[in-house]
Amino acid sequence: MKIEPIKPHIGARVHVDPDQLTDPQVVQACREALDTYGVLVFPKLNPTNHQQLAFTDALGGRVDYSKAIDGGKAGTEDVYTVTLNPEINSQKEYVTGTFFWHIDGLNMDNLLLPKATCLSARHVADKGGNTQFANVYAAYEALSDEEKAEIEGLRVKHNLVTYLSSIVEEPTAEELARWGRQPINEWPLVWHHESGRSSMILGSTANHVVGMDLASGLALIARLQEWSAQPDFVYEHKWEQGDMVIWDNHGTMHRALPYGETSRREMHRTTIAGTEPVPGPDKVRKAA
Ligand code: OGA
Ligand code: MN
Repeated sequence: MKIEPIKPHIGARVHVDPDQLTDPQVVQACREALDTYGVLVFPKLNPTNHQQLAFTDALGGRVDYSKAIDGGKAGTEDVYTVTLNPEINSQKEYVTGTFFWHIDGLNMDNLLLPKATCLSARHVADKGGNTQFANVYAAYEALSDEEKAEIEGLRVKHNLVTYLSSIVEEPTAEELARWGRQPINEWPLVWHHESGRSSMILGSTANHVVGMDLASGLALIARLQEWSAQPDFVYEHKWEQGDMVIWDNHGTMHRALPYGETSRREMHRTTIAGTEPVPGPDKVRKAA
């Protein structure tokens, strides 16, 4: 196996045979590389669902938080299909929702934030559909001491209803009720990890910085996202069919560049469970 860095702050390519993905040495090296590089690209790996799930399990166990979502059956348990093809995925707002910076799993009942997400490309878009990843460890580290002090201790409510309402024209009562079944969760803006490193929990689901007026809080989040999305901290992946990419969901935010329904873009997604709790009294409040 060979690991080859892509940019100083983010990204590495891993060259390995798909049969060796669950070799304990490969798994350990990938775990460490995930923390170091934030995003690992396995060019043209062409994993089967079974191989992708086995790798997911070896890295820390699978989570199927897409179970709550009706769309996106991939034909294999615990594999979710990210696609705008209406024959496969009937709930396209969760997919168009990926067109904006986000971190996976912030609006789930389970507050152990998924450690990583794994995507493999089954069909690529003919236009658009690259995925961008921003290293929010590096972005935090590069803030001035003054800026770090300004955001220390802040907490942010993440709300799926306000977010999806902003990207779906005239949502139906049924849609609003469905999105509303996901909890509004409050997360710290700065996450001081057990490793001693610190990252930021950002994303388009953020809708209220606690203790700030709405506009000032949202402007702060927007500024931190713009800061984190500067080219030095970002890796943009142009997909080839068969590529597999895995990202550290604790230390990066990501978004897909828009693609159309007719593009037949199809990704198979698996999710790796987290074990490190986010500190603080995580308050979970059910949406109305
Ligand atoms: C996701 C996601 C990005 C993409 O599945 O969580 O954000 O490029 N996907 O499909
Ligand atoms: Mn995502």
